[in-house]
Amino acid sequence: MGMQVTMIGTGYVGLVSGACFSEFGVDVTCVDKDRSKIDKLLAGEIPIFEPGLDRLVANNRKAGRLHFTTDLKDAVEDADVVFIAVGTPEQEDGSANLDYVFSAADEIAEAMRGYTVVVTKSTVPVGTGEQVRKRILAKNPDAEFDMASNPEFLREGSAIEDFMRPNRVVIGAHAKRAIKRMKELYRPLYLIEAPVLVTSIPAAELTKYAANAFLAVKITFANQIANLCEAVGADVHDVVRGMGLDNRIGRKFLHPGPGYGGSCFPKDTQALARTARENHEPVTLVEAVLEANDAQKLRMVDKIEAALGGSVEGMRIGVLGLTFKPNTDDMRDAPSLTIIPSLQKMGAEVIAYDPEGMEAATRMLEEVTFVESAYEACEEVDALVILTEWNQFRFMNLKRVKQAMRSREDGRYVFCDFRNIYEPDVMKKAGFRYTGVGR
Ligand SMILES: NC(=O)c1ccc[n+]([C@@H]2O[C@H](COP(=O)([O-])OP(=O)(O)OC[C@H]3O[C@@H](n4cnc5c(N)ncnc54)[C@H](O)[C@@H]3O)[C@@H](O)[C@H]2O)c1
Repeated sequence: MGMQVTMIGTGYVGLVSGACFSEFGVDVTCVDKDRSKIDKLLAGEIPIFEPGLDRLVANNRKAGRLHFTTDLKDAVEDADVVFIAVGTPEQEDGSANLDYVFSAADEIAEAMRGYTVVVTKSTVPVGTGEQVRKRILAKNPDAEFDMASNPEFLREGSAIEDFMRPNRVVIGAHAKRAIKRMKELYRPLYLIEAPVLVTSIPAAELTKYAANAFLAVKITFANQIANLCEAVGADVHDVVRGMGLDNRIGRKFLHPGPGYGGSCFPKDTQALARTARENHEPVTLVEAVLEANDAQKLRMVDKIEAALGGSVEGMRIGVLGLTFKPNTDDMRDAPSLTIIPSLQKMGAEVIAYDPEGMEAATRMLEEVTFVESAYEACEEVDALVILTEWNQFRFMNLKRVKQAMRSREDGRYVFCDFRNIYEPDVMKKAGFRYTGVGR
């Protein structure tokens, strides 16, 4: 008989990984306690925006390998491997909230029958695997199981490709039986020679945080170099290209912008900094990054203010892009959630458009006028601000943009491109008062 996998939590990670495992031919049941999510999936709808996911889910459901339910007990009973892929959001003090992980663990403990591998796929602080093991044993002393940690590295927007062709798979486990089962599950990836690293559980847990924090450091470094470029009159794109061509540095994640956001970097950097402090080994580099990233977001507000001649009061500002990056509808910790309210507080009126993020944005932003297209967001605005580099914003008809916008006293149009997708010289020639990041 083939492998039975159960995924607890059917969000960005649980749904994508569940669907991808079923594509490998494994029988997968995705569980969520959010009934509306499961109802949607059962009706053939996809609750999130992720390119290619609709087809993948539909195909595997049709093939009978992918199931959705709210009934955790039923889904766990016969599972060989149970993944915990629930949220681990940030708490007030910066630490990861493990309530969802622990409550899932308690339910698994009661439902488990026969030898099961329980895997944390959620991003969890070092030591969580051990805590989960103890909790399960406390609830069900006879449970026959082993723990594993299998952190997920997929990126929203290219999640399926990332899962199917990962740079690496990290499996933290101690028990031979668990390692064997986990390796078997990822066997389809051996063909493409994806490295599978087997480590201890704490090492796997920490790898995820270390990787995300390193990437956050890299982006923040590019942002600070960009800010320095502004002061000394260099183009940051020349600088980061010159840096990135050095193989030891690498070109990726050196693109300056309005500060990182999203469902992972902000909370994972916070949590790592906290874990490090608790263990009396502070990672001060990451602590500095947290501060710098907050400052970077607010710096964008200052730039808009400066571009408008010193004040945004009474100004209409059009914002293009609200999600933390393109190709997702995820609004969690997006820079727009800091920048827009700051502008409003200073008396600006904000008009916004995002191709996929507006439904979530309406719940997270107040008093914003949401419009249906990029050009509508240009209408009668005193400044246009690009916050997310959706492809459709890359080739705007600039004539049309200007016709819609209000010009400044000098006849120019304020254009703040915080993803550097337009060329400063071209924009200046076209009659814009152009502001990028580090150029
Ligand atoms: N989103 C990403 O890009 C990404 C990438 C890598 C790792 N991660 C990590 O993966 C984890 C999940 O992230 P996400 O973005 O998928 O979160 P999410 O909020 O999209 O999904 C979590 C789901 O779990 C469900 N849930 C919570 N408790 C449950 C329970 N007891 N039983 C059943 N369902 C339950 C929620 O209803 C929700 O649908 C987090 O730890 C995150 O840090 C996320």
